Amino acid sequence: MLRNDELAEWDRDNFFHPSTHLAQFARGEMSSRIITGASGCHIEDRDGNRHLDAFAGLYCVNVGYGRTEIAEAISKQAHELAYYHAYVGHGTEASITLAKMVLDRAPDHMSKVYFGQSGSDANETNIKLIWYYNNILGRPQKKKIISRWRGYHGSGLMTGSLTGLELFHKKFDLPLAQVIHTEAPYYYRRDDLDQTEEQFVAHCVAKLEEMIEREGADTIAAFIGEPVLGTGGLVPPPAGYWPAIQKVLDRHDILLIADEVVTGFGRLGTMMGSDHYDMKPDLITIAKGLTSAYAPLSGSIVSDKMWKVLEQGTDENGPIGHGWTYSAHPIGAAAGVANLKLLDDLNLIANNREIGAYLNTTMRAALGDHAHVGDIRGEGMLCAVEFVKDRNDRVFFDASEKVGPQVAAALAESGVIGRAMPQGDILGFAPPFCLNREEADEIVAKTVAAVKKVLT
Ligand SMILES: Cc1ncc(COP(=O)(O)O)c(C=O)c1O
Repeated sequence: MLRNDELAEWDRDNFFHPSTHLAQFARGEMSSRIITGASGCHIEDRDGNRHLDAFAGLYCVNVGYGRTEIAEAISKQAHELAYYHAYVGHGTEASITLAKMVLDRAPDHMSKVYFGQSGSDANETNIKLIWYYNNILGRPQKKKIISRWRGYHGSGLMTGSLTGLELFHKKFDLPLAQVIHTEAPYYYRRDDLDQTEEQFVAHCVAKLEEMIEREGADTIAAFIGEPVLGTGGLVPPPAGYWPAIQKVLDRHDILLIADEVVTGFGRLGTMMGSDHYDMKPDLITIAKGLTSAYAPLSGSIVSDKMWKVLEQGTDENGPIGHGWTYSAHPIGAAAGVANLKLLDDLNLIANNREIGAYLNTTMRAALGDHAHVGDIRGEGMLCAVEFVKDRNDRVFFDASEKVGPQVAAALAESGVIGRAMPQGDILGFAPPFCLNREEADEIVAKTVAAVKKVLT
């Protein structure tokens, strides 16, 4: 293709980038990266630089870039049937096949999957279904949703409210009144440093119980959580957290939404995070790993228990008043079918388990004793390095010092892309599942060099 030297200028003048400092970008004070190609775990920019993408885009390109099988499935679908809707009982071969494949991989008590386009809209669907469910059951006051500080569930009005990160609320008049936030299961950042992990779990449970007591269980519909906190810092839960939370929810008849947008389809080294942590969700949110982001597609997997009530609702009220033009889009569905098949055929979840463990072990060995590294944690193909001013007294850096972003920038300069997580000085890694040992070694070696450069 002819090189367009005006592209950077067009970008600044016309393109509203998400999650970006708009003013700095418009003034040309931020570096921009225009990506032109990718293959395996690497992306390439228009200046010909190759980068090891150790965050798989936004932890979504799970099978890696350049998979011909998925590209061909998309092309075939676009030629044969680019679109037909899914309203009033319509379907396509791809969307029906994918629904079956999703249910085959979900916990046994799940019944149906509703397809959307993004993780955010899938969580919007979930909340609507929960409100509908409680109205059908004749308890219209049971509507509040408990989320956790540092949870990430999207950036719509409801889902931005569910998200427990300051940046997503500030100046947007969020959270909405129906959403309340409880303690994050973030052991490293516990208030009481003397607490054992077990005591910390008991503390999280006590905080939840207090909230339920204060608000009234008859006003609370559901609890939403990611099996592993993602954008909030890549934090696996302390041992025993989910079974303990599940017990409280069951006792108070509060539904559980497992937001598996990141963890679904293998990220933790198991098919679903719910199985990994023994959660028994009523709804499961899926997106990213469903198509490895080759096309936008998300889903809400609904349990048997909820499905029965939804059926009752339509018997009483007529067709469900929920749907989008692009629900179950056949091109997304074709990508999903090819993607899930590839995960199986190439045994990518097993590779993820093995190389993810290797990445975490080598990262710990290389940086675990560094004076400014407070915590290194991970699960499956997730790994996070948390920087602190003083590791002995666990003193955090002031956010204005931007230590995390500086390390991520130094790392990017050396050709490896990690992610400075938005709250705290946390460098995150979530590479594609096809990562090999040499690439894991490169991530660790270059992280060590970047940390040395910023934090001598
Ligand atoms: C756990 C979780 N839920 C929901 C979302 C929102 O998904 P989307 O950005 O596709 O709307 C994300 C996105 O990162 C996520 O990590």
